[in-house]
Amino acid sequence: MAISKEAAENEISGQNAVAVEKEEIKIKPFWYSDIWLFPKLITIITSLDKEGRINAAPYSHIMQYDVMQKTPRMIIGFRQESHTFQNICATGEFVVNCPSADYLDDMMDTARFWPEGVNELEHTSFTMIPSRKVKPPSIAECPQIAECTVDQIIHLEKSSGIIIANIEAIVMDKGLADMDRAERIPAMNLPIGLGDQSRRYYYHAKLNDENITMHELAEPPGGQKGGKIQMNMDWDDKAIEGLMEIPVALRKMVAGQLEEYAQDKGASAVTAQHMTDMAEEYGIDAELMARFKT
Ligand SMILES: Cc1cc2nc3c(=O)[nH]c(=O)nc-3n(C[C@H](O)[C@H](O)[C@H](O)COP(=O)(O)O)c2cc1C
Repeated sequence: MAISKEAAENEISGQNAVAVEKEEIKIKPFWYSDIWLFPKLITIITSLDKEGRINAAPYSHIMQYDVMQKTPRMIIGFRQESHTFQNICATGEFVVNCPSADYLDDMMDTARFWPEGVNELEHTSFTMIPSRKVKPPSIAECPQIAECTVDQIIHLEKSSGIIIANIEAIVMDKGLADMDRAERIPAMNLPIGLGDQSRRYYYHAKLNDENITMHELAEPPGGQKGGKIQMNMDWDDKAIEGLMEIPVALRKMVAGQLEEYAQDKGASAVTAQHMTDMAEEYGIDAELMARFKT
């Protein structure tokens, strides 16, 4: 139900007053590195130019984009003139290397505005190793690495170049994947990027044990009952049984997707076969389901 701005303001003014006064900040170009604090992942992207020359530079406008097993993707924002963006447009391949906090100075050395054709890694203590699925090299000192190919390139007018990347391989230091997250976070020792001042002084935080906290995602009072699921089509008994096997947190979403899937196939009812076929197409398997079970 839509409510007017005035009604919304009345509702808000009924709440306890908050002590901190707010002010609106002018949005300037590169506003994210201006005042707004945006804790970010620090990566070094390695790529090859048309002649096969290696390039490396830090990039932190990077985000997971698609989490499914069959189509894992990341989204990354670049200055369109950067060598990295131009290389990726030309070759369609690159590697996202995440350095540990021990290598922040080397990472900053790769950020310098080196001339075209310079392999920045040669001006650092980093070691190049072959990648598994793409041609640009990976960086040995990085505990987590994603080898990527281009899915989509978006040239924003007078602004960033956006790459949506397929993740072809995820490569990690041996042993990390088997650790509990509480052990893996300090073991990887990834820095958190806290942006720059005047595009010159870059701030970072290090994750050590004292700085890491853990918070449980609790169930709502009374336990999670799964909520009401609105069925718009007929479902056969086996399909309903299958739906009950889906973890509660996903059940509503999956029910909607299954009805759409069955409709696309021209069916008038959802069957267990639709469920099997859709799971196969979406890369949903028992391992993924187990991740949502409590
Ligand atoms: C920590 C850090 C993060 C950066 N993140 C980005 C980014 O996400 N996008 C971008 O266009 N430039 C980013 N830069 C700037 C580029 O790394 C820099 O312009 C570099 O010289 C580009 O090199 P290239 O032309 O070889 O690609 C970042 C720099 C640093 C130090």
